[in-house]
Amino acid sequence: MDRKISLTGIKPTGSLHIGNYFGAIKPALELAKDYDARYFIADYHALNTMKNPAELQSCIREVAAGWLASGLDPDRVIFYRQSSIPEVFELATMLMAFTGKGLMNRAHAYKAIVQANNEKSSDPDAGVNMGLYTYPVLMAADIILFDSDVVPVGKDQVQHIEMAQDIARAVNANYRRDVLKVPQAAVREQAAVVPGLDGRKMSKSYGNAIPLFADEKQLRKLIMRMVTNSQAVEESKDPDQSQIYLLYKLFASAEEQAALAARYRAGGMGWSEAKEELFRVVNRELAPLRGRFEAIIADGEGLDRVLARGAEKARPIAAATVTRFRRAAGIDL
Ligand code: ADP
Ligand code: TRP
Repeated sequence: MDRKISLTGIKPTGSLHIGNYFGAIKPALELAKDYDARYFIADYHALNTMKNPAELQSCIREVAAGWLASGLDPDRVIFYRQSSIPEVFELATMLMAFTGKGLMNRAHAYKAIVQANNEKSSDPDAGVNMGLYTYPVLMAADIILFDSDVVPVGKDQVQHIEMAQDIARAVNANYRRDVLKVPQAAVREQAAVVPGLDGRKMSKSYGNAIPLFADEKQLRKLIMRMVTNSQAVEESKDPDQSQIYLLYKLFASAEEQAALAARYRAGGMGWSEAKEELFRVVNRELAPLRGRFEAIIADGEGLDRVLARGAEKARPIAAATVTRFRRAAGIDL
């Protein structure tokens, strides 16, 4: 039997953080053990917001090196840049013909910008380029092009995957057969929304992120800066109400979690000690990644070669999907 296909992408719009790691990278690498995996850098998606070429280039390298440092094996996973696969853009154009404008109007990211503009009494579409507006169509093309069964992502991306489903179904309904595969989101409950240093969702754009490859000193400083309440050292504390403990759970074993929860409840442990415990487990997991990352990013040519090889493997798969669709549509006679 054919193995199922797992696919996901990350936009190179900044440094990777632990929300990306637990929400997307780690689950994706676990799926890669049992699925045929296709993981990529969504550089055209990044172009919507990143107009500085030097910055975009360095983010592309950083995200690529981040995947590899986290354990992606390019001999087993097809690993490439979106921009190396022109079929993505051909498919996106075809999918546009099956995508209602109203569907795009309902996208959370677009709606949030319109709402912010309305609150400022600005033009509702101020700052919205067409790339941003049609973002979900390009993402649907990324997914559908590779016949993806599952898409490992954090919760914030689920709506985009539902849109990809709607679009694929519209195509299949029109041609009365399964021209395109309908994908499913794979969201890990424990890491659906990793909280940031301020308790909101961790995000590059909120300035509340713990970078995945921060050095030890920076890591400690960020953790020590986490906001806490004014409970005194001797007071009993509820671990589940503490951001520090929520982050700790992502990095600690079940035994460590139970032991620390008991110490929180017993009283006698202050916030600075709780932060010290958090730092210890975070650094334990991230230190080896950091070392690998530094070595990979230093070898730019090696990185380019890995991505070029990935593109070579990806393109025939992409071409087959586009051909299948062109035939169904009557474009290929
Ligand atoms: P950001 O919000 O920092 O810009 P991206 O949108 O580039 O992050 O997200 C890349 C991947 O990481 C997506 O699959 C997304 O769902 C996941 N992700 C991002 N932030 C988090 C988070 N705080 N918790 C869980 N997953 C996240
Ligand atoms: N929109 C995703 C994000 O912001 C990135 C992305 C682009 C993606 N294309 C994709 C994720 C295809 C999964 C599948 O994080």
